[in-house]
Amino acid sequence: MENNVFEQMAKRYDTEERIELAKVIVKEVRPELQNSKSKSLIDYGSGTGLVSLELSDLVNSILLIDSSKQMLEVAQAKISNRGITNSKVLFSDFTQDTPGLKADIVLLSLVLLHIPGTKKILHELFNILNIGGKLIIIDFDKNENIQHPKVHNGFSHEELKKTLSEVGFTSTEIKTFYHGNRIFMNQDASMFKSISIKS
Ligand SMILES: C[S@@+](CC[C@H](N)C(=O)[O-])C[C@H]1O[C@@H](n2cnc3c(N)ncnc32)[C@H](O)[C@@H]1O
Repeated sequence: MENNVFEQMAKRYDTEERIELAKVIVKEVRPELQNSKSKSLIDYGSGTGLVSLELSDLVNSILLIDSSKQMLEVAQAKISNRGITNSKVLFSDFTQDTPGLKADIVLLSLVLLHIPGTKKILHELFNILNIGGKLIIIDFDKNENIQHPKVHNGFSHEELKKTLSEVGFTSTEIKTFYHGNRIFMNQDASMFKSISIKS
């Protein structure tokens, strides 16, 4: 299972390359969180918190959720070491069971590609958002050079927009914001940002 891969790599997940890519993502997500000081954010598939722990100054609270305990251990150590007081971790896998949580903002950074049932997970995330809530997805654009049995080879904007609309989001804007060398399974790839609103 994909989870085991992440369990095994947790302690060595924060490589220079991943930290650099996370910086690019943080730069793209921060403007989406202006005027969010009173909002709660769930970072679903948070990993070691490379992205969301750089956003904690912009929101009221962050819940880092992951299905890998070891990734969360690394994230928790960062929270403690940095004295971040508004962020917590939660071990959970919404494809198995969804806890009764609510949030104003859900962030999904490089996670959707690892979850086989795209529509089902988006449906779960739609349900935990409050009315007026925002779903922020960062992922790779469709890349036909990549074939892997457990990982989506990116997403087409049109198909993702359609799925988001089918699960109930009223508006979605998707744009490609970055092209990088060997950033997706050692292939050159581009990343998109998708912003959806639940109204
Ligand atoms: C590529 S990492 C991205 C980590 C982080 N979001 C970032 O951008 O640096 C993918 C993460 O998703 C988690 N993950 C995969 N499937 C999941 C699931 N079904 N539920 C929750 N987390 C999942 C993995 O354990 C891993 O930590």
